[in-house]
Amino acid sequence: MSAPKKLFIKTYGCQMNVYDSERMAESLGAQGYEATETADDADMILLNTCHIREKAAEKVYSELGRFKGLKEAKPDLKIGVAGCVAQAEGAEIMRRQPMVDLVVGPQSYHRLPELEAKARSGEKALDTDFPEEDKFEHLARRPKAARGPTAFLTVQEGCDKFCAFCVVPYTRGAEVSRPADRIMGEARDLVERGVREITLLGQNVNAYHGHERGLSGLIRDLAKVDGLERIRFTTSHPNDMDDDLIAAHGDCEKLMPYLHLPVQSGSDKILKAMNRKHTAESYIKLIERIRGVRPDLLLSGDFIVGFPGETEEDFADTMALVETVGYGQAYSFKYSTRPGTPAAERAQVKEDAKLERLHRLQALLKDQQVAAQEAMIGRDVSVLFERDGREAGQMTGKSEYLHAVHVEAPDVARGDLRRVRILASTSNSLKGALL
Ligand code: 5AD
Ligand code: SF4
Repeated sequence: MSAPKKLFIKTYGCQMNVYDSERMAESLGAQGYEATETADDADMILLNTCHIREKAAEKVYSELGRFKGLKEAKPDLKIGVAGCVAQAEGAEIMRRQPMVDLVVGPQSYHRLPELEAKARSGEKALDTDFPEEDKFEHLARRPKAARGPTAFLTVQEGCDKFCAFCVVPYTRGAEVSRPADRIMGEARDLVERGVREITLLGQNVNAYHGHERGLSGLIRDLAKVDGLERIRFTTSHPNDMDDDLIAAHGDCEKLMPYLHLPVQSGSDKILKAMNRKHTAESYIKLIERIRGVRPDLLLSGDFIVGFPGETEEDFADTMALVETVGYGQAYSFKYSTRPGTPAAERAQVKEDAKLERLHRLQALLKDQQVAAQEAMIGRDVSVLFERDGREAGQMTGKSEYLHAVHVEAPDVARGDLRRVRILASTSNSLKGALL
């Protein structure tokens, strides 16, 4: 047998890309590739790209530029671009950067083996279709390799919501849910390989309809899998939080008390312009209902500042919503124009106003994050240990609230789930002691 070829994948953007990269690595593994950590010794470099905010395509081109020397030194090296920039730019990538051999959009990863063979034979390989078949069912798997204690599992892709700022409905296409039995099979396989926590992924995961009772039905079935201890899901839209999914936060023990529920803005005028189809008040009421069944829920969110038409008053509404809701952590972004989306054509907020608002919002969110972490001091949490800590003899894991927790515990192993008392809070993590 010939020596295995080496594959270097660089992943940008969301967790769905992380999951896709794993599956692409498995699929190319069946073609004789093994993973490498550096581009320098790779036979194939794959950039799995993100297009959610501006300059993504430019970043990809400059990253590709850096591989020029490698390609000259090793003409057999194949370079591919996957992900949402591949979908959006298509053949343009090969025109602008002729050393690219392969371009594959997110819905076509199951065609990667054919595309790889084509590229290997010296042809250009391009696929940015939205095929009918489920790519995940057609992706080859490697023989059962052991895994770490946590895993992502994509259950749904695409989005039909068409928020006025967002490229996802165009790059990932319409909502598609994977059938529940396939997901159950994949989850059992992950658990056999050592996984104890699964995060269900989807661009609009709570719109999942591959189970007759939706996402909560799937979660309740997964909760019956022995050996699976924790379930999470991300990312959700407020309008798809149905009654049973809310109830599951109160009565499904394996569903963790952490919820990422983006609101984007606290101004009803801006929410309407964003085509979000909910108001600030309906969002606040929803959070109250979820906290009614799970008072210790740690809430996370996404915010956009400087959306076209946003005034100081609208921004003040966003700050007020953050004060009212209280986030354990959150992501915030300056609005960035995405060609082809409705908001791109509208009059834009000045860059310095956007930046100034972003700083104010981030300061408030940081204060809330610090307060949420400090509120954990003295409390007992359960920690799923994932890796060695930064210091010798230290182990690091995540609490049910997704806080990183460091513990001095030389006898704890990866995959152990242990009770820990929180003793201190540092900038982005907690310190604790085993109970
Ligand atoms: N500009 C800024 N932020 C954006 N997001 C999506 N599109 C844009 C855009 N054009 C943010 C939203 C979304 C998160 C994944 O990225 O907050 O929830
Ligand atoms: Fe984009 Fe999320 Fe809105 Fe869908 S719901 S359009 S993925 S921001």
